[in-house]
Amino acid sequence: MKFFIDTADLDEIRDLAATGLVDGVTTNPSLAAKSGRKFTDLIRDICAVVPGPVSAEVTALDFPTMMKEAAVLRAIAPNVAIKVPLTPDGLKTCKAISDDGGMVNVTLCFSAGQALLAAKAGATFISPFVGRLDDISQDGMGLIAEILEIYRNYTDLKTQVLVASIRHPLHVTEAARLGADVATLPPKVLRQLYAHPLTDKGLEGFMADWAKSGQSILES
Ligand code: E4P
Repeated sequence: MKFFIDTADLDEIRDLAATGLVDGVTTNPSLAAKSGRKFTDLIRDICAVVPGPVSAEVTALDFPTMMKEAAVLRAIAPNVAIKVPLTPDGLKTCKAISDDGGMVNVTLCFSAGQALLAAKAGATFISPFVGRLDDISQDGMGLIAEILEIYRNYTDLKTQVLVASIRHPLHVTEAARLGADVATLPPKVLRQLYAHPLTDKGLEGFMADWAKSGQSILES
């Protein structure tokens, strides 16, 4: 399973990229606006830190302007994945960019039917938002299972399932159990994945016992 991080905070991206566990980055207009940076500069900087796919979302709602914005974003770096909303114009843009060899992430997916359309439009990634479905008492992870089942029925569909709107580590492990291709994690969730109280307790015990030995591995 690939791990993307879902943030536009460059310091967080640098910090987490140094773990060697980050395969890509997703941003959205809300995260980008929060960064306070000029969007194209921000994407350029992120692409320089993370060589994997970096999702940059168009903000136009009509096909011709989406294509113009996508051209600007694609010119920034070869690892930019154009993010388009799951609308008729978004999928038209998706088809045009994927036919031209570009990466596309189709976002704001909330149903299996939408995911099927995105795959037929040649999306590189489909982003179903599990957390936002859970928030309205619908089964986010059930949607992931449904999409994976459909995509596996058709070997010509190459779209990767990118689990988005992740809220906690259980979303990540459940998505991995189902065989989702990618999870995009808020930085906090990536850090939470490391944590277990027995790891902390065990380490504390080992270190206390080792200190009593008076030894140092570096001085042997
Ligand atoms: C995905 O690409 C989106 O940016 C993101 O996962 C949305 O998450 P949210 O529902 O926490 O805003």
